[in-house]
Amino acid sequence: MSSPSALRHAAITSVGHYLPDERLTNSDLEAMVETNDEWIRTRTGIRERRILGDDGKATAFMATEAAREALDKRGLTPDDVDVIVVATVTPDMLFPATACLVQDNLGASNAWGFDLSAACSGFLYGLTTGAQFVETGRADTVLVIGTDKMSSIVDYTDRTTCILFGDGAGAVVLEADEDVGLQDTVHHTDGEHRDLLCMEGGGSLHPPTHETVDNHMHYVHQDGRQVFKFAVTRMADVCVEVMERNDLTADDVQYLVPHQANQRIIDATAKRMGLDSNKVMVNIDRYGNTTAATIPLCLYDWEDELTRGDNLILTAFGGGFTWGASYLTWAYEGQ
Ligand code: UT7
Repeated sequence: MSSPSALRHAAITSVGHYLPDERLTNSDLEAMVETNDEWIRTRTGIRERRILGDDGKATAFMATEAAREALDKRGLTPDDVDVIVVATVTPDMLFPATACLVQDNLGASNAWGFDLSAACSGFLYGLTTGAQFVETGRADTVLVIGTDKMSSIVDYTDRTTCILFGDGAGAVVLEADEDVGLQDTVHHTDGEHRDLLCMEGGGSLHPPTHETVDNHMHYVHQDGRQVFKFAVTRMADVCVEVMERNDLTADDVQYLVPHQANQRIIDATAKRMGLDSNKVMVNIDRYGNTTAATIPLCLYDWEDELTRGDNLILTAFGGGFTWGASYLTWAYEGQ
């Protein structure tokens, strides 16, 4: 472990991913609930999502695959990892933490780790959290993983939510760099509106009973219209704030990396920032809303377009409410 230094930024030095093979298309959903492809595409931007299925694999499995790929690409071994931060709202079980399962799956014998629950902002919060271990010199190699098996908590009889979510995982390696890496963050939490997007059942307030199951309390509940109103303003506000306080104009920003909840929210955010659509990472059409995984999955898909020093703004809004924006400078050349 190195000694603390004012020059240690936490840079993303590798990205890995995992997406299940099975596709759930809009036409598949037409056969399950009263909906249609045109409504889903125009209201959300989604065409299909990936589903992990029920063969005993869950969130930790996807996280492990994504982490393994990220380490391999960087030429690191699991023994090199100091800390594992797993952002998820669909842990394999309430405890032990998914991070413990990932540590064991990887054989990361020198690592400790923990889970972080911030819904769709999970990866953003995880990045800030993981970065601090690197910045202070307490760790040299940190894995930050966003992973969610949303299909395990989605009610496939509720057309207002089941069309939105998909399964997947993305992982990044954080290491120290003197110049590039995480530069600034603005994060918020506001629990007042916790009822607008939540899963009520299964915690200590409503432990599982026949009644909680009968009342569909172990599924995602969302008041979409209300959440939309908050998301569309808060996400743009926080992106503009992080740009202004770092003296960044739209020309200075190479990419916006937004949480993928709704194409209309992404478009409105980019517009407020003055960014053309070719500077916005979007994969909601292919994967839907994978909750904590959307941002690292975008980084994975766009990695080849990036060069060292590129200015990225990462942003998310999710249940809690939780939201924020981070200013990150990219560390390595695309292939
Ligand atoms: O990721 C965490 C944060 N989450 C978000 O940011 C999500 C924010 N919310 C949204 O993205 C949008 O609110 C939704 C995509 C969830 C819904 O879009 P909307 O434009 O807000 O639709 P709405 O809820 O206002 O519903 C409009 C109509 C309603 O019918 P009436 O009342 O106008 O007759 C709904 O019943 O569309 C109906 N509807 C559907 N129709 C076909 C709702 N779901 C569906 C559906 N298919 N799947």
